[in-house]
Amino acid sequence: MPAALVLGASRGIGFEFARQYLQAGWQVHATYRQEAHRLALRDIGAHPLKLDVEQLEDIAGLAWQLDGEAFDVVIMNAGVFGPRDSSTQKPADAAAFDQVMRTNVLAAMRLIPVVMPCLNAQGGTMAFISSRMGSIAEASSSYGLLYRVSKASVNMLAKLAHVDYHASGLRVLALHPGWVRTDMGGPNADVDVQTSVDGLRRVISEPLAYPSGQFFDYRGSSLAW
Ligand SMILES: NC(=O)c1ccc[n+]([C@@H]2O[C@H](COP(=O)([O-])OP(=O)(O)OC[C@H]3O[C@@H](n4cnc5c(N)ncnc54)[C@H](OP(=O)(O)O)[C@@H]3O)[C@@H](O)[C@H]2O)c1
Repeated sequence: MPAALVLGASRGIGFEFARQYLQAGWQVHATYRQEAHRLALRDIGAHPLKLDVEQLEDIAGLAWQLDGEAFDVVIMNAGVFGPRDSSTQKPADAAAFDQVMRTNVLAAMRLIPVVMPCLNAQGGTMAFISSRMGSIAEASSSYGLLYRVSKASVNMLAKLAHVDYHASGLRVLALHPGWVRTDMGGPNADVDVQTSVDGLRRVISEPLAYPSGQFFDYRGSSLAW
């Protein structure tokens, strides 16, 4: 049975990844922070694991719990947007900077060496849920500046994980889910979460069409870094 690990699976895109992989017959390990989310993940058939990605001791605990597991797919999904109004005219304050960069960037840096060894050496895929807002090539506004900077950093991490791990048979992708109707995306977003995750799962499942070290959206379109 194929197996997936979803980091940040309590709601939104992460929960939908867990739900769809389970529905497809996969074994799913899925992380949460609040007890209500542990129960919800357990109720859909996932193996819940507690992880606040800002907490170093939680990451150490995850490493211990994952010892001996082998995943076909790991989804690095946990993320926060931070202040909507940060821009080149209005820099984010230090507290917001710390929260967004610790959650989106530092956590991913710390999790790479923990989860990459848990990937199946025959083509296991690590998918970073990034954002088109992290594309430097496509930047057209400084709205959400802090989030953009954090996701540009996530893209660099994805590329560097590809550089370091691809030779051992692993695949690393940066993925844009679209503008999705979740707590983060809000009710006016373009795409429903089922469509987004269905598309992302298709991209993840086709290594020849969507090779390691690249940036794709949920429809399979290639994005410029
Ligand atoms: N929605 C969009 O339009 C959109 C567009 C582009 C990219 N993305 C990216 O897609 C990913 C998921 O977004 P979403 O729309 O599903 O957002 P969401 O509904 O706000 O969910 C965010 C997820 O991240 C988790 N998370 C946040 N901080 C965490 C922490 N310190 N430790 C562990 N988990 C943490 C949350 O867990 P809790 O429930 O415990 O807070 C939740 O599971 C994010 O990386 C986001 O940047 C979203």
